[in-house]
Amino acid sequence: MNIIFLGPPGSGKGTMAERVGKEMKLAHISTGDILRAEIKAGSELGGLAKSYIDKGALVPDSVIIDMMRERFKQDDAKGGVLLDGFPRTVAQAEALDSLTAIDAVINLEVDVQVIVNRVIARRVCEQCGCVYSVKTHAASDCSKCGGKLVIRPDDNEQTVRERFRVYEEQTQPLIDFYAQRGIVSNVDATMPIEEEAAYIIDILNTEKI
Ligand code: AP5
Repeated sequence: MNIIFLGPPGSGKGTMAERVGKEMKLAHISTGDILRAEIKAGSELGGLAKSYIDKGALVPDSVIIDMMRERFKQDDAKGGVLLDGFPRTVAQAEALDSLTAIDAVINLEVDVQVIVNRVIARRVCEQCGCVYSVKTHAASDCSKCGGKLVIRPDDNEQTVRERFRVYEEQTQPLIDFYAQRGIVSNVDATMPIEEEAAYIIDILNTEKI
């Protein structure tokens, strides 16, 4: 089964993809995580990506499509994937069609003010990338690996609002793109985290996919 998680920045794509991927034994592929790993490694791709990410813009389609073509060659992608942050434009969605067939799209719905509050409260482990919120995790270290929790450089109010604007302009049209195939399920992304994950798993298990 191949699933896309769609939703604005901070809607919970990563949080849900991690839980659903584990439960359904699907490879969780996050373009944001891949790009951040490239930045950390100091690669050429990382340097290019950083110049876009820091201002809340999208990395060019050609770069992302080449990167995902390579990612799909890895073994874990052959048993089903959960895509988090890809595709983000119609050009990316068309390229994805040449890589695999998509069975379901989970569209996380949440309004912009909730997003800004969430993103400002987000902390990530600088070692393992695990995601927390200061609202529910007051400690300054990761409970999984003990790594230090830090603020993502693009998690400030100005950049988040720009990322939301870019989402509305370039990514939101994908809801219609996939709705025409009858594979979109809208999910209220303001439910408590574990309840929301269980709800999504239920949708994916009960839909005729
Ligand atoms: P990316 O990392 O994909 O960022 P994003 O889409 O902006 O999404 P986020 O990671 O900010 O949020 P999320 O939806 O995963 O939410 P999370 O689970 O963390 O991309 C970063 C950048 O890379 C982009 O801006 C772009 O420049 C570039 N890029 C990436 N992919 C690209 C592509 N395909 N094309 C071009 N450029 C690309 O949750 C957020 C917070 O909320 C957490 O603290 C979490 O604990 C909390 N939370 C989650 N769910 C709930 C809930 N139900 N209730 C309460 N709190 C919740």
